[in-house]
Amino acid sequence: MPHSTASKITTHKIQAPEGFTYDFGAELRGADLENFTDADREVIKKALYENQVILFKNQQSLSPKAQYEVTRIFDPAATGYGHGKTLDAKRSILHPDLKTIPHQPQVQVIGNGKVASFEGLENITLKHPHHKTFHKEPISEEDDRENTRFYRWHIDAALYDLDPPKATSLLAVKVPKTQYQTLRYDDGTDDEVKVPRGSTAFVSSYKMFDLLSEEDKEFARTTKVQYAPHPYIWMSGARSRSTGLGMESEGLELDYSQLPPIDESKIKVLPMCWKNPVTGQLALQIHPSAVQKLIKADGTVIDDLKEVREICYRLQRPGIAPGLVYAIDWEEGDFAIFNNHGVLHTVTGSFLPEEVRIFRQCNMAASTPVLGPEA
Ligand SMILES: [Fe+2]
Repeated sequence: MPHSTASKITTHKIQAPEGFTYDFGAELRGADLENFTDADREVIKKALYENQVILFKNQQSLSPKAQYEVTRIFDPAATGYGHGKTLDAKRSILHPDLKTIPHQPQVQVIGNGKVASFEGLENITLKHPHHKTFHKEPISEEDDRENTRFYRWHIDAALYDLDPPKATSLLAVKVPKTQYQTLRYDDGTDDEVKVPRGSTAFVSSYKMFDLLSEEDKEFARTTKVQYAPHPYIWMSGARSRSTGLGMESEGLELDYSQLPPIDESKIKVLPMCWKNPVTGQLALQIHPSAVQKLIKADGTVIDDLKEVREICYRLQRPGIAPGLVYAIDWEEGDFAIFNNHGVLHTVTGSFLPEEVRIFRQCNMAASTPVLGPEA
């Protein structure tokens, strides 16, 4: 065990560029993540829960093992990948996006293009998710290179059986540098935001909660969210809204008879607000495309799917306004960790097949349930 001397790591808040008002994100400097101390662990933990997204630069030599160990700081008892083995299901909408590192199965490779060899994986083809595979009405072919969408706002979570990972880490190994794209909301507003191609976009779910009316805050604090069983298979026939913030309601979800066997005890009913373990703040934390029912304080169940989605959308949409979006401009060696219980995030952008991009992602199913407002 390293000596418990003071940590050399310093925390520097990210300044939102002109025109943006988001107030989260920090760069951490002076860290040796291959050999972190107990004091470092405390600094990193505090920084994550106070800033929601933390970024370490120049980590290209970070081993998958060290990535796993750093990601476990936030949940030392967690050991298994956040989606467990559910990704094996070929019909899951997550299936094509992730390749598991054989010697560190909690770490996945994501990206774009053909890769001859990487961390024990040989001749793999990665595919950056394109919104046209998920949105009901994608951007036209001719506008597609210059413009993009939020692919799918989400929490990293299986939302069936397993508890949502506390934190996810992302290491940018190879990043094709291209120009910015215009990210369009296309939801009847003129909202748009310039994002670096392939940026990962984040919004604060604490801000999303703070923007609610007092009446909606009370509703959010006391309502529970029930997620569909096997949600990523259940939603596989349905299509997303143009903002990536939940689904269109066209009755295209799979029937239960088309899903793997359902164990009622594994269905997730989670609070709508999740408490930050360090600051005590409440996050409005709903996975908008997996939600199926809402259970109100008096026990009333709202089970009309269209109505459920309308309610969630009305509550969540203000929180993804252009000025509130922190879009990371990835550089090779960037290592980011985010508070998966306090932000929503999404892929953006599109790449040509020859634009090779490699990222390593790590998260573990949590060892304890999420903290509700009463925790
Ligand atoms: Fe994710």
